[in-house]
Amino acid sequence: MSETAKIELGGTTYEFPVIEGTENEKAIDISNLRAATGYVTLDTGYKNTGATTSAITFLDGEEGILKYRGYPIEELAEKATFIEVAYLLIYGNLPTVIELETFRSNITKHTLVHEDMKQFFEAYPAKAHPMGVLSSMVCSLSTFYPESLDPNRSAQAKDLTILRLLAKLPTLAAWAYKNSTRHPFMYPKNEFDYCKNFLYMMFAMPTEEFKVDPVVVDALNKLFILHADHEQNCSTSTVRIVGSSQANLYASISAGISALWGPLHGGANQEVIEMLEKIHADGGDVDKWVLKAKDKEDSFRLMGFGHRVYKNFDPRAKIIKKACDDILTKLGVNDPLLAIAKKLEQVALEDEYFKSRNLYPNVDFYSGIIYKALGIPTEMFTVMFAIGRLPGWIAQWKEMTENKEPIGRPRQIYTGEVLREYVPIEKR
Ligand code: CMC
Repeated sequence: MSETAKIELGGTTYEFPVIEGTENEKAIDISNLRAATGYVTLDTGYKNTGATTSAITFLDGEEGILKYRGYPIEELAEKATFIEVAYLLIYGNLPTVIELETFRSNITKHTLVHEDMKQFFEAYPAKAHPMGVLSSMVCSLSTFYPESLDPNRSAQAKDLTILRLLAKLPTLAAWAYKNSTRHPFMYPKNEFDYCKNFLYMMFAMPTEEFKVDPVVVDALNKLFILHADHEQNCSTSTVRIVGSSQANLYASISAGISALWGPLHGGANQEVIEMLEKIHADGGDVDKWVLKAKDKEDSFRLMGFGHRVYKNFDPRAKIIKKACDDILTKLGVNDPLLAIAKKLEQVALEDEYFKSRNLYPNVDFYSGIIYKALGIPTEMFTVMFAIGRLPGWIAQWKEMTENKEPIGRPRQIYTGEVLREYVPIEKR
């Protein structure tokens, strides 16, 4: 007989099925709990709540394992291209040569954005944070493709929206940066691959020949792969929940970009560099900052440390730390922030506060140092995360819609006033 869980309430025992995933993770299926008992569960921040079943990404926080569609992240980061990984996440299998070529060439057909969108960019102040611009621009795409608003359109029409998003996000991201520098926008060059084309739109100038070190292109490819999906995190859950109302894919991804922006999520990569710069400018006394991070009266936290699910190590951080050393050596960059980051990591990892709370460097701890070495400006770091995460968001949205999941609508326990009598304003 299959395993069940028993809950006793008011002297009555209720039984609920236990479901098991392919990696032997177990969950108590309480979808019938309220109907059977009148109770709901309470789990602020969803620390123990499985919001869905999913066949995309597997993550074991205790063992530090991360796999996309069954492939270990270490292997993909070493051997695959970002576009190959995007196909894998979205369509479930690694592409054949023909599938990959078709996917790649379909993406290049859609890299241009409507000329009218240039006027939107120009209306933003130069100081606008590129994440605010990106989120708005992605939502604006829906206004140029009104057919994407139909939740019942064909799978082929949905694929076209997916291709448009993958193709246009780098263009929009690079143009957000160009606008902040008030430099001319560079149109995509379709003979370049995905990462090189993005670097071209970011850094090329019409007056100069564009040259990029292949080390930089490879590093970007690796970083995008490491960010490509991470199961039901804050931004991905946002994409799924917005999409569950049948809002269009552009709106759902725009919401995901906004969720990613926060400093506790993708915004941490910008915060890490700013923190390291502050420590450097302050004389590099790492112990002082570790003390500050431990002080509960002080709001300072070690950015790039800690994770909701990784309680041993973040496998992405391991890969990035090594990549960071390699890339800086290959590019001949000697960044004092890397030395501070390493010292900070060492001090924190030996400290009882961090040990007892299982706080380890996460993906964002070293990624900023690489982005900096590649010449990416600090305010663009979270934008880079968003470009990397796009295939994951799309895959999760696609799975959610194909599984016909119901609209996301959590319950609550109300703790406010019970009943009050309205008092006219002149009597208050
Ligand atoms: N520095 C100092 N103390 C910390 C830190 C930190 N970075 N992270 C957690 N703690 C402490 C926290 O104060 C709490 O202590 P206590 O038990 O004494 O109250 C304990 O560790 C548990 O923390 P929590 O905030 O309850 O844990 P959480 O799972 O809700 O939060 C987190 C996870 C990532 C938001 C948090 O660790 C954090 O704020 N880290 C810094 C921001 C960061 O690097 N975010 C990027 C995450 S990885 C990229 C991504 O995928 O989003």
